[in-house]
Amino acid sequence: MKKINITETVLRDANQSLIATRLSFDLFAPILKELDEVGYHSLECWGGATFDSCIRYLNEDPWERLKKIKTIVRKTPLQMLLRGQNLLGYKHYPDDVVRKFIKMAVYYGMDIIRIFDALNDFRNIEVAMEETKKQGAHAQGCIVYTVSPIHDIESYIKLAKQLENIGADSICIKDMAGLIMPRIAYNLVKSIKEVVNVPVILHSHSTNGIAEMSYLKAAEAGVDGIDCAISSFSSGTSQPPTESMHYVLEDMDFNTGLQASKLKAVNDFFKPIRDDFSKSGVLDSKVLTPQPEALTYQIPGGMLSNMISQLKNQNAIDKLDAVLNEVPRVREDLGYPPLVTPMSQMVGTQATVNILTGERYKMILKEVKAYCKGEYGKAPGRINEELLEKALGNEKPITIRFADTLEPAFDKAKEHLKDTTTHDEDVLSYLLFPQIAEDFIKNKNMHPTTEHARREYKSQPI
Ligand code: CO
Repeated sequence: MKKINITETVLRDANQSLIATRLSFDLFAPILKELDEVGYHSLECWGGATFDSCIRYLNEDPWERLKKIKTIVRKTPLQMLLRGQNLLGYKHYPDDVVRKFIKMAVYYGMDIIRIFDALNDFRNIEVAMEETKKQGAHAQGCIVYTVSPIHDIESYIKLAKQLENIGADSICIKDMAGLIMPRIAYNLVKSIKEVVNVPVILHSHSTNGIAEMSYLKAAEAGVDGIDCAISSFSSGTSQPPTESMHYVLEDMDFNTGLQASKLKAVNDFFKPIRDDFSKSGVLDSKVLTPQPEALTYQIPGGMLSNMISQLKNQNAIDKLDAVLNEVPRVREDLGYPPLVTPMSQMVGTQATVNILTGERYKMILKEVKAYCKGEYGKAPGRINEELLEKALGNEKPITIRFADTLEPAFDKAKEHLKDTTTHDEDVLSYLLFPQIAEDFIKNKNMHPTTEHARREYKSQPI
């Protein structure tokens, strides 16, 4: 019986996709022991938004959270999502910071690190992969999946081979917008399996009501693992439900290794938590309904709601259709980047600006300029010549890896914080989220044993 590994995402992706990453450690701590008994391949529990939310909203030290999870979850490997050279932040970090961060994450108990770059420019994940392996953890490389005239099965096969060549212990097809069609999932998994020797995992979202079907076709094509969320935190912008996928796969003679009776206990635990978030309005029922706009416009759900609120702020919601039509044009001008953080924000905002100013690229965002300069990596396709000229002015684009232009930063940050903390993990938190982490660290170290008052911050970048 072919084994299909299941990764449970309730603590990370489901938490992020449905309730803006507001699950606190105290809320889920009582079920960790049980989660460890289910038989999951891994438990995804850490990533950019979880780290950020811990410091920004939950008054929790993300490192402490990881340590506490590891103390209870002894058997199931812990998994995290890492944005390559961006780590968990929004800009590129120098290599010394990347290495130090990974070393610390593995030291605190991380077993599997899933690493991606928004542009599939693997120069931006190589260092992270190498350090992950050096620290003895599992380095999973990602192919960020998108739909465009320049992305086809052949291009993805090439990427998969590249990932194996740079040492990926497994390969994840990361379909963050839930766009992958069942037939493509089948063909993609089958073709990649033919050319690489490492396990292939499919990560998708139920956003468009397609992921369950695509998982099933991927299983038929020989996929080695899928990501699911316990049913009370599944579906919509989250992952397909763990229980349903388990029953379907077992019915088709696959082995998931999960114990159904244990799954029920986990789901019963999370149900009232989901209901509370629903009552308080943090969980909006809209995210649980399929959003076909994503298929029409190739716009992820989160990006669409951002654009709507930007337009409302400008009193220009009547321009929504114009903006929606502008998005694919901007994306084409930029060489078809996948619409994942930070590209989704960049493309969406530039499209909005193009419409609101009444002239395309009259104003070019500073991020778009940096992208055109090569600071995010190599664009998947060709950038529009006119835009390139306008964005660069007299500057020359860079062809080397952007991180190679950055000075080491860890020791400097440590020196800056020397009166506040002596802990390297605090220095890393500061490097990732400088505006909020410094105060957080000060307070934490001043009152190490008492829980200090909860602070509210206005902006939320996720
Ligand atoms: Co995801």
